[in-house]
Amino acid sequence: MTNYNAQQIHLKSRPKGLPTQDNFEIVEVELTPPQKNEVLVQNLYMSVDPYMRGRMRAEGVYAEPYALNQPMYGGAVGEVIESNNENLQKGDIVLNGGAWQDKLIATADTLTKLTPFDKNRLSLYLGTLGMPGMTAYVGLFKFGEPKKGETVFVSAASGAVGANVCQIAKQLGCRVIGSVGSDEKAQWLLDECKVDEVINYKACGDLTQALAKAAPNGVDVYFENVGGSHLEATLNVMNHFGRVAACGMISTYNNSEPAPGPNNLMLIVGKKVRINGFIVFDHNDMRAQFLSDMESWVKDRKIVVRETVVEGLDNSVDAFLALFSGDNFGKMIVKM
Ligand SMILES: NC(=O)c1ccc[n+]([C@@H]2O[C@H](COP(=O)([O-])OP(=O)(O)OC[C@H]3O[C@@H](n4cnc5c(N)ncnc54)[C@H](OP(=O)(O)O)[C@@H]3O)[C@@H](O)[C@H]2O)c1
Repeated sequence: MTNYNAQQIHLKSRPKGLPTQDNFEIVEVELTPPQKNEVLVQNLYMSVDPYMRGRMRAEGVYAEPYALNQPMYGGAVGEVIESNNENLQKGDIVLNGGAWQDKLIATADTLTKLTPFDKNRLSLYLGTLGMPGMTAYVGLFKFGEPKKGETVFVSAASGAVGANVCQIAKQLGCRVIGSVGSDEKAQWLLDECKVDEVINYKACGDLTQALAKAAPNGVDVYFENVGGSHLEATLNVMNHFGRVAACGMISTYNNSEPAPGPNNLMLIVGKKVRINGFIVFDHNDMRAQFLSDMESWVKDRKIVVRETVVEGLDNSVDAFLALFSGDNFGKMIVKM
């Protein structure tokens, strides 16, 4: 007998500032058995990502806002346990949009069947082989356009996106500088990801001075994940015709009021800096190439992967909040 009982995390109220547990609720539901073209999926892993904070705002940011008192959603990997679709069988592993839920009913066309290269590493499809890995790939190649010998600076450098950016840029023959919030993360980037210099932005004092010291020839490409003082410091040391791949600005995501802007934006003009915002979902034309390259780099250990794995849907809110305190190290994954 199939069990249709599921647990979901609902958004109960819209956070002001940093979210708290009170903004969320765990809810037990009984799902309706799958109808034609629908399948029942048991999730195995789900992703928590910084962009979800934007979805908790009534106005959203670039993604649809989450509705109150409804299950939240996002990337997850699960196993088909019942199928009413001819292309999906019981036991198939599928990428789905049903994060924050341990089980869900989904129409077959919303699922991507995976052919994992290692069945013991399914969470990779939420990290290095998934959305964050593709963000690193698209942002660096399409918008950073680094050339051999250039200096690439990456903020949130040990995270799901940043660690991949650092390692791809190293493979391209660039001098890579990362910024992180702890010495442990810094050491890992130096030892395992072979980056050239790491700045602990919490301990370095003046960030412009630290960056100028780490990048004596200036910065050619900035992979922007943090915003605020990181952007300001980078513009100070950016070279003429530098490129900024503007991926995210996590330091601003919990602001209730807009933060003051960097005080040196005029440098963009004089230094002829190109700043490109981008959203990974607009670049699916690069998906096949990304997957082929990244899978082979992971297999050959040209890209090393770090994850923080939190167990249980009931700990998923804590896992999400850890993204803002820096308590994740590498890709944050919730194992169901
Ligand atoms: N444009 C797109 O399509 C796209 C897609 C995916 C992700 N993103 C963006 O990429 C960035 C990284 O995402 P991710 O998934 O890879 O997250 P992540 O780096 O795995 O986790 C977030 C990290 O950000 C750092 N951080 C948090 N608050 C900070 C603050 N106030 N100042 C400086 N650093 C702070 C923390 O690292 P430390 O310990 O080092 O401080 C934390 O571990 C985010 O801005 C995200 O929104 C954009």
